[in-house]
Amino acid sequence: MPALVGIEGLTKKFGPLEALKDLNLSIPAGVTFGLVGPNGSGKTTLIRIICGLLRPSSGKVTILGKTVPFPEMRHLIGYMPQLESLYLDLTVEENLFFFASLYGLKGPRKKQRIQEVLDLVELKERRNFRVEHLSGGLRQRLSLACSLLHSPQLLLLDEPTVGIDPELRFSFWGYFSHLAKGGTSIIISTHYLDEASRCKKVLMLRGGKILALGSPEEILSQTGEGNLERAFLKLSRGAQDGPG
Ligand SMILES: Nc1ncnc2c1ncn2[C@@H]1O[C@H](COP(=O)(O)OP(=O)(O)O)[C@@H](O)[C@H]1O
Ligand SMILES: [Mg+2]
Repeated sequence: MPALVGIEGLTKKFGPLEALKDLNLSIPAGVTFGLVGPNGSGKTTLIRIICGLLRPSSGKVTILGKTVPFPEMRHLIGYMPQLESLYLDLTVEENLFFFASLYGLKGPRKKQRIQEVLDLVELKERRNFRVEHLSGGLRQRLSLACSLLHSPQLLLLDEPTVGIDPELRFSFWGYFSHLAKGGTSIIISTHYLDEASRCKKVLMLRGGKILALGSPEEILSQTGEGNLERAFLKLSRGAQDGPG
């Protein structure tokens, strides 16, 4: 079986800037895959290329063996962008109806999925609130719900827990584990290294290059450190001192 996501010789340039440098890796199905690195390390660029929103400068990305972009991929993937893409003057439920239509859901299935995602992110009581009256955390919950409407097999979440309080971060991770147990693969970018340690596999990026790739336990044992934050610092220093 091909990997869920295959990344081969992937380079992305913005003018002279190389945002991703010859990445090679594959992401298996059925895992939570953490994409970690400081601002500017290339996380969003990688996610947008996997979604087919940006084209690589060279190399390619495949999903289930097919080269991105391909038409049916919109049924396979859900994407929660780093900046919210909700309609402020619509209610919670109206936003969900709008996104459900975009994903091609219709009739009873559409209504049913809207109720299910409202339940999952605990927004049922607020379904008739206009988004402009919601706090940032509630908007994040709604954005997540929108990305889940069509039950995607692969979910790409770009820093979904930035700027939300610890309690909500905790419940977000509850939703993620729930989804992963149900068979969804989740690629989640974060700059919180404690969050990365909850993932099954972690890719550490720095300056568009791979610093480390493996399970949190593997990265800790390779570096001889007690937590991922220290591991990241150690690997970063090594990369600075080393050639290239
Ligand atoms: N559309 C763009 N045009 C020019 N430079 C970009 C563009 N998008 C990203 N970059 C640059 O590419 C690098 C990686 O950015 P990004 O993928 O957004 O990183 P991250 O999500 O890890 O913060 C940064 O140096 C950023 O300034
Ligand atoms: Mg980003």
